[in-house]
Amino acid sequence: MRVTINQIKEMKQKGEKITMLTAYDYSTAKIVDEVGIPLILVGDSLGMVILGYESTIPVTMEEMLHHTGAVVRGTKRAMVIGDMPFMTYHISVANALRNAARFIQDGGAQAVKLEGGITVAEKVRRIVECGIPVMGHIGLTPQSIHQFGGFKVQGKTPEAAVRLIEDAQALEEAGAFAIVLETVPAPLAALITQKIGIPTIGIGAGIGCDGQVQVINDVLGSFADFVPKHAKQYTRLIDIMSSAITEYYNEVKAGKFPTDEQSFSMDESILAELK
Ligand code: KIV
Repeated sequence: MRVTINQIKEMKQKGEKITMLTAYDYSTAKIVDEVGIPLILVGDSLGMVILGYESTIPVTMEEMLHHTGAVVRGTKRAMVIGDMPFMTYHISVANALRNAARFIQDGGAQAVKLEGGITVAEKVRRIVECGIPVMGHIGLTPQSIHQFGGFKVQGKTPEAAVRLIEDAQALEEAGAFAIVLETVPAPLAALITQKIGIPTIGIGAGIGCDGQVQVINDVLGSFADFVPKHAKQYTRLIDIMSSAITEYYNEVKAGKFPTDEQSFSMDESILAELK
């Protein structure tokens, strides 16, 4: 049985911290699931860390569904959340509902995430009414990067802070089961966490959130382009991978790989007949 939205909401009530990580492929998702991480996000960050786009904006539904399916196949226990790409939930309620349903029906996810507060509340309400759990995402919402003019901390002015609180309340009221707070001052994130009844999951939003989410490539140190301030590299896979690949390269060049251990033998008499 997979983790349910009720279990996630209960974790907030019990004061139990919630962990969430992104994953984009079968093998990685399997490890994350076996560790016991309850929420796995197939983030549209895959556009940057897996597909090499400059932002999340070019990511398509087809790309998201392809990776969501792989993550679902690699997991047994975690709730898998599909991240709705840019412009797949903005145009109309019907369009948002259709695309959310594709994550559940075609991708096998158990929930979807979408960016925005008051402006998407109507869509969130309808998707939830139709039986699809929704996670909100406010603060620095990367799909609006051109509107923000860069990766900037959100909610620093009184008006912006009030707006973020109202966005969080609108999402809760619309039926979202949790909200990601991205790149928001820690005291504001803590205040929002107190003001709403559903869990907040922070990324660059301080320790006062009910849970934390990170991009797995940041945690593993496998993304070389940049390391965001909110990220902590728990290891440096880039170095480990680079040294293993260099060793392989050198062994092939020197005729040291493969050895008998990686090779297959055959009956000598059959071989003799072939000669
Ligand atoms: O796409 C993503 O990985 C995300 C997380 C950073 C929350 O939206």
